[in-house]
Amino acid sequence: MYPSGGRVQTVTDLNSLREAVDELRQSGTIAMVPTMGALHEGHMTLVREAKRHATHVTASIFVNPTQFGPNEDLDAYPRQLAEDQAKLEAEGVALLWAPDVDAMYPQGFATSISVTGVSEGLCGASRPGHFDGVATVVCKLFNQLRPDVALFGEKDWQQLAVIRRMAADLNLTLPCVDNIIGVPTVREEDGLAMSSRNAYLSNAERASAARLNQAMREAIARIEAGADVAQALDWLTGELAAAGFGPIDYVTLADAANLHELAETPAAPARLLVAARIGTTRLIDNMHVEGKSA
Ligand code: PAF
Repeated sequence: MYPSGGRVQTVTDLNSLREAVDELRQSGTIAMVPTMGALHEGHMTLVREAKRHATHVTASIFVNPTQFGPNEDLDAYPRQLAEDQAKLEAEGVALLWAPDVDAMYPQGFATSISVTGVSEGLCGASRPGHFDGVATVVCKLFNQLRPDVALFGEKDWQQLAVIRRMAADLNLTLPCVDNIIGVPTVREEDGLAMSSRNAYLSNAERASAARLNQAMREAIARIEAGADVAQALDWLTGELAAAGFGPIDYVTLADAANLHELAETPAAPARLLVAARIGTTRLIDNMHVEGKSA
C-alpha cells in the first residue's frame, strides 16, 4: 500500500538529489512524474497512476526555458511551488526535484538533443525548437533522477512520441522506452482538456474553449462513419473558427504512432490532433480515432 500524506522532500541541487535518489533506491523502485508545475488534476492523475508502478513516486517541477519560443509565455507561465508541494505531499510523493535554471543549465551548457521525424510536423512546425528543448530537458531529468518508470500525459501526444523515440534511439535504461507510460487526458466536465494554460482564459474564452473537444468528437464520429476525411477536417476547422478560435495551427488526422498525416479514413487506429489559439492562449487536444477495420 503506497503511503498517503507526509512531507515531500524538496531538493534543488544535484548533490542532494543524488543522495535522496540513492536512499530511495535502497528501499524499492522509483516512478517519476516530470512537470512544469502549476499542478492540476491531470498531473495528480499521473501521480496516482505512478503509485501503481513503483515503490516510490517522485516528481520534478522545472519551467524549462529552452522549450519556449522567443514570443511565448515563459515569463507568464504560472509558478506556485508552495501550492504544488502541498498537492504532492497530500498524495504521498517522496521526493520533489525543483532545480532553478542555473542548476539545470550551468554556465557553458552546450548540448541539445534533436529528434527528427516525429517532432517535425504539428507543434514542431508551429513551435520551432520546442521539441529539442523538451527532449534535452527530459533526457537530463531522467539522468538526474534515474527513475525506473516515467509517466506523461497523453494530452501532449506528440511530446510523448518524441520522448519515446529519444529513449529508444539513445538506449536509455532508466527508464527504458517500455517504461515510459502515457496516461489518458483528464478533462473538465465540458470536455476541455486540463492544462496549466487554461488559467489564462477569460470567462468568455473558457466558455468557448469547450467547443474544441465537443467539435473534435463530432468530427471523429463523422470520420468513423466513413465521411471524407478532408471534408470532416474542414468542417472541424470551420466549427472552431465559428467558436472564436484563431489562428488555428493545425487540425490533422495522423497515424497514432509515427504521426504521419492521413488523408483517408485510417485502416489502423489514428489520432485527431488540434492546436488553436483562443485569444492569446494556445490550446492543444488530441483523441483516438478508430481504424476502418475495427
Ligand atoms: O509536459 C511538460 O510539462 C513538459 O514539457 C516536460 C515534459 C516536464 C518537460 O519540460
